[in-house]
Amino acid sequence: MVKLYRCIICGDAYVGFNPPPNCPFCGAHADYILEAKDAIVNFDIPLSAKDQANVEHALMVEISNSTFYACAANQTNDPEGKILFKALGKIEAEHASIWRKILKLESVPPGRETCHTENIENLKESHERETKAIAFYRKSADGADHSRIRQLFEALVEIETDHLQLSEERLK
Ligand SMILES: [Fe+2]
Ligand SMILES: [Fe+2]
Repeated sequence: MVKLYRCIICGDAYVGFNPPPNCPFCGAHADYILEAKDAIVNFDIPLSAKDQANVEHALMVEISNSTFYACAANQTNDPEGKILFKALGKIEAEHASIWRKILKLESVPPGRETCHTENIENLKESHERETKAIAFYRKSADGADHSRIRQLFEALVEIETDHLQLSEERLK
């Protein structure tokens, strides 16, 4: 029977016969996907000064990465690369909107990034960006004051690690 599922990381819903193995919108792993009626999704979190600073930085990271991937999707010289970077761009934009909701901003500020025409250069830059994001998210999760902020940072570590694997496989 078809059911309504919801990702507790990004809050988006999915209609299907089974829960998806990853959230199709933000990439969160299966543990975070529940039937919508059981899903508790909270973006209204009291932020300590430290959590606030980390969330603000996370928003900037995601804006930068989504803008880079959107650029790469247009300019990279490999057909599969275009598809890959388009998919990653959408996921990173979803991540930016998670942090936008936590920060209670009306919209995600625009980004400005450059990218490459050589696919391998885009893959290398993707690898660098994801490595940095993972390290920052790991540190932010470990130091988080609020359990929901820790949960979001931990989910993001897993997702960005998946992205890292995509570039690693293609750079072999
Ligand atoms: Fe991301
Ligand atoms: Fe990523």
